[in-house]
Amino acid sequence: MTDIKEKLNEYIRFTEDNLKKYNLHSEAMAAQKNLIDAMNYSLEAGGKRIRPVLVYAFCNALGGDYRNACAPAAAIEMIHTFSLIHDDLPAMDDDDYRRGKPSCHKAFGEAMAILAGDALSVQPFEIIADDDHLSSEQKVKMISCLAKAVGRAGMIGGQVIDMENEERTDVNEADLRNMYRHKTGQLIAVSCMMGCICAGADDETISAAADYGFKLGLAFQIVDDILDVTSTTEVLGKPVGSDEEENKTTFVTLYGVEKAQEIANAVTDEALGCLEKFGNDAFLTQLTEMLLRRKN
Ligand code: IPE
Ligand code: IPE
Ligand code: MG
Ligand code: MG
Ligand code: MG
Repeated sequence: MTDIKEKLNEYIRFTEDNLKKYNLHSEAMAAQKNLIDAMNYSLEAGGKRIRPVLVYAFCNALGGDYRNACAPAAAIEMIHTFSLIHDDLPAMDDDDYRRGKPSCHKAFGEAMAILAGDALSVQPFEIIADDDHLSSEQKVKMISCLAKAVGRAGMIGGQVIDMENEERTDVNEADLRNMYRHKTGQLIAVSCMMGCICAGADDETISAAADYGFKLGLAFQIVDDILDVTSTTEVLGKPVGSDEEENKTTFVTLYGVEKAQEIANAVTDEALGCLEKFGNDAFLTQLTEMLLRRKN
């Protein structure tokens, strides 16, 4: 089996180079300097870039040229970064540390963090609409599925369920799965879908990629919950113990770390099963396994 490290690093480098291009300072935007600084601060802080990598990997698995996927890849990382900036706000998870640095609101103040998140929530649609590599049909398809994945029936809807669950003592596994499908699964699934759209895939293939993405997203969030109790702030780059502090029900509070890990393993196996439709692509297979074993 070939090691995916090299390809993974290539994808991450390509993502970061592209992200840099979208928010350069200019004379015309001098008055918005602080906003652009806040956006770039969170975007450039690092992070695993797993969602752009999935866009490229699905495009590549279907025979497309991943370099044509630069716009949706940057777009999903901006949406994800917006979700993290708002997730950390005092009104939400109230976390002061993210991606190894003070959270956006700690560095720039709450109002600027809200606005940086707002700007990062809409720029993705501009980037896709203005892209030179995609056809009009591809752009409309992507804008439609991305908007759905972000909005009331997507990640934002999931964040609402998460917040409301903090007030409940009767959250069960089905409730959690529903919350995770929305708050985490939707952005991961749409990353896979957009990669397929870039490669010109049909609707059946796009839907198969979404199935995989939802499974991966569930496993990914369960591992995130486990790391919240087993890791350290230094390794994670964000505070540990945040879930307990905010009274979250997670797979760990429901079942304990060991059983939560077993469920994450089983869901990862289900995700791997979904890759059969993609010829058990070697990169995607190893990436899926790697994300289960990740340390941050
Ligand atoms: C954190 O996502 C939020 C979750 C959905 C668990 P990531 O773990 O992908 O965060 P970064 O991008 O690496 O910082
Ligand atoms: C992740 O939830 C979902 C979103 C940010 C949309 P968490 O609240 O668990 O994410 P972290 O642990 O703060 O990264
Ligand atoms: Mg949260
Ligand atoms: Mg959080
Ligand atoms: Mg978490």
